[in-house]
This record gives sequence, C-alpha cells and structure tokens, in this order.
Amino acid sequence: MERTERLEAYAAAVQEALERFLPAADDSRARIRDAMRYSLLSPGKRIRPVLVLEFCRVAGGRPEDAMPFACALEMIHCYSLIHDDLPCMDNDTLRRGKPTNHVVYGEDFAVLAGDGLLTHAFSTALSSALPPERTLAAVRTLADAAGVDGMLGGQSVDVQNDGRLASFDALAEMYAMKTGALLRAGARLGCIAAGAGEDALAAADRYASAVGLAFQIRDDLLDLEQDEAIGKTTYPALLGVPASRARIDELTKEAACAARFFADPDFLVWLAFYLAGRDV
Ligand code: IPE
Ligand code: IPE
Ligand code: MG
Repeated sequence: MERTERLEAYAAAVQEALERFLPAADDSRARIRDAMRYSLLSPGKRIRPVLVLEFCRVAGGRPEDAMPFACALEMIHCYSLIHDDLPCMDNDTLRRGKPTNHVVYGEDFAVLAGDGLLTHAFSTALSSALPPERTLAAVRTLADAAGVDGMLGGQSVDVQNDGRLASFDALAEMYAMKTGALLRAGARLGCIAAGAGEDALAAADRYASAVGLAFQIRDDLLDLEQDEAIGKTTYPALLGVPASRARIDELTKEAACAARFFADPDFLVWLAFYLAGRDV
C-alpha cells in the first residue's frame, strides 16, 4: 500500500470508529451529544490514533484490535482542544477551519463536551476485547498521558507562565508534556495492544518523543507565519527560524532511526518526514 493511501485508510477507519463509539444519548441530552459529535467528528489529522494503529501493526498486532485505544486517545486530544480554545484559555474562535465548540454551543456546553469526551475515552478504551492486562496497561497509559504529569501538566505550566518561559529547558519540558505526552501515548498504546516487549516500547518512545518535539516546533513556525503566538516564548523566538528548522530536521532523523527498530518501518519513517513538513 502507498504511504499516503495507508494514512488515508487509517484516518477513514478512525472516523468511522469514532462515530460508532460516540454515546447514543437520547433527545433529552441532544445538546451534549451534538456538542461532543461536533468537535470529535470534525476533520482533524488523526495523527495520534494513526500512531496507535501503525505501532500496533509494526509490533506484530492487528491494527483493528487497537481501535478502542486509538479512539480513546483522539477523544482525549479533542477534549484538550475544546478546553484550550475557551475564552478563559486561548479564546480562539476557529479550529479545524470551523467555529470552535463554545462559539457554536456556548461556554457551558463546551466545558461539558470536553468533560464528556474525557470520561467517554475511558469507557471506550475499556470496551477493548484484548486480554485484560493489555487493556489495564492502556488505561494507565491514557490516564498518565492526559493528567498532571502529561498534557494537562503542560497546559498548566503554559497558563501559569502566561506563555512566557524563563529558559529553553523549561520550554522543552513544557512541550514534552503539552504536546509530547499524547503523541508518546499513541506509540505506546499501539505496542501495548500488540503485546510488545520493553525494547519495542522504548523504541516507540524514542520515535514519538522526537516526532512530538518536531511537531510542536513546526506548530511554532506555522503560528509565526500566521502572526499568532506574539509575545509567547517559542522555539523560533528563542533560536530563530533557521535553527528551529534545523532542529526539526535533526529530530526527524532521530525518529527515523528509532523506527528502524521495527522490521517494517517505512510508513513510520515517511510519517515523521511528512509531519515535519506539514502546512496545517
Ligand atoms: C493541535 O494538534 C494541538 C497541538 C498539540 C499542536 P493537531 O495539529 O494534531 O490538531 P488536529 O487534531 O489535526 O486538529
Ligand atoms: C494546543 O496547544 C492544546 C494542547 C496541546 C492541549 P496550543 O494552544 O499551543 O495549540 P493550538 O494553536 O491551540 O492548536
Ligand atoms: Mg491554543
């Protein structure tokens, strides 16, 4: 299969599964159901679930077996974006080319939709038919990646410092939590679903750590092009644009190297380069 075809096939399978996993609340709860659907089904890149499915495949499992974990992770990512866009946070009105959740459903329902997706992520992961010890490990991974030591911790450091961090190391640490944690969880969840050993988990972690940082630096460069993130500490603000680009290249090569632990790494290698050059 061509690499772009594989990416599209994964994304289409995730879209269909997300739709299936969403709760079928009756009409008395139509507004929360619609608010959750609106953001979850809107066209994201689905990078995190794609990592879950592909790492499951390269680690010797069947990607479809990892789908509940993949969808759970995308639900957590989606919740983080809904809350990140709220007026009390980044106060953004557009996301994925559409009005943000609170613009359509109001702040009250945007908070509830985020809460609903976070909670539903865990029941989705628990619907896995894999051996219970794998499901338990997956739930632990999701909780750690979402919480105070993961994405939420990174968001809180960002908010506490009003986007201005004192040092380069502090910025890298914040990125590793805010953006890196969920991407690392994607790679890890795929390996867990496949029942892979510690060596595979370590290689997956190296790959996703490098891709995660490159992904966030790329985000900084895209924000710069669109005049967003003015006054915030970012990689290009601290290092300049050429050095930031060079850092992305270095990290992408590191990711490619880590992917070669697996017998069939072509798609993962391509994905790292594809994400390094993304425009959205
Ligand atoms: C956006 O993530 C937020 C960051 C962590 C930079 P994505 O760029 O993966 O967003 P979607 O899911 O494709 O919209
Ligand atoms: C996105 O962070 C939210 C999370 C990582 C939870 P940013 O504020 O940096 O990214 P955008 O620009 O809203 O996508
Ligand atoms: Mg934001």
